[in-house]
Amino acid sequence: MGFAIAIDGPAGSGKSSIAKRLAEKLGYIYVDTGALYRTIGLAVFRKAGKTDDPDIISEVAGDIDVDLGYNEKGQRVFLDGEDVSEEIRKEEISHMASVVSAVPFVRERLLDLQRSMAREHDVIMDGRDIGTVILPDADLKLFLLCPAEERAKRRVAQLEKAGMEADYEQILKDIHIRDERDTTREISPLKKADDAHEFNTVGHTADSSAEEIVERFGLCRK
Ligand code: DC
Repeated sequence: MGFAIAIDGPAGSGKSSIAKRLAEKLGYIYVDTGALYRTIGLAVFRKAGKTDDPDIISEVAGDIDVDLGYNEKGQRVFLDGEDVSEEIRKEEISHMASVVSAVPFVRERLLDLQRSMAREHDVIMDGRDIGTVILPDADLKLFLLCPAEERAKRRVAQLEKAGMEADYEQILKDIHIRDERDTTREISPLKKADDAHEFNTVGHTADSSAEEIVERFGLCRK
C-alpha cells in the first residue's frame, strides 16, 4: 500500500483541480474516480439512451471493460479500449454518471479497480466515498465544502472559457439535483468520513487550496 490521500466532496467543489495540483506537488498519481462512473454512464447512454433502469444499467456495466491509463496529459479513461476522456465531460454524461453511480452493481464493479490503484502507487484519489468506503485507511482524508451557487458560478466560467454555452440557472438546478441524488442514495452516499478534515474552497483558487493543504498537513513535496 502506498501513501494515500482521499478527497471527497460534492460536484464542482474543486476536488479534481485541487487533487491534480497536489499530485504534481507531491509526485503522486491522481485518480479521478468520477471518470469511471462517467464512463459507465457513457456506455449506458450509447446502448440504451437516457435510462435509469437499474437492470439495464447493471447489464451494460457487466458487459464492458473500463480501464485507466496515464500519459503526458494525465489520467485517461478507456471504454473497451477507446479513449473516452473528453466525451465523458459532456453535461448529459454528468447526469448519466450520477444515475449509474446509485446502482449497487456499478459500485461493486469499480471497487477493485480503485483499490488496486492505491495498492500499486502513492495516490490522491477523489470522489464521493473514497474516505468512507474505498480507502477507509487513507493516510489523509479531506472533505471539501463549497456552496452550490459558488459551484454553479465556477462551472459557468469553466464552460465559457472552453467556448461552450452556459446557463447559470440550469446549471444550478442540475447541481442541486446531483447533490440530492449523491447524498441520499442508499449505497455509499456522499458523506464526510468521521476522521476527514473539512476544507472550505470558497475564496481559494485550486493552487492556493493545494498550497494551504501541503502546509497545513505537513506533506512532503517531491
Ligand atoms: O466527480 P464527478 O462529477 O466526475 O462524478 C460524476 C458522478 O459520479 C457524480 O454524480 C457522483 C458519482 N461518483 C460517485 O458516486 N462516487 C465516486 N467516487 C465518484 C463519483
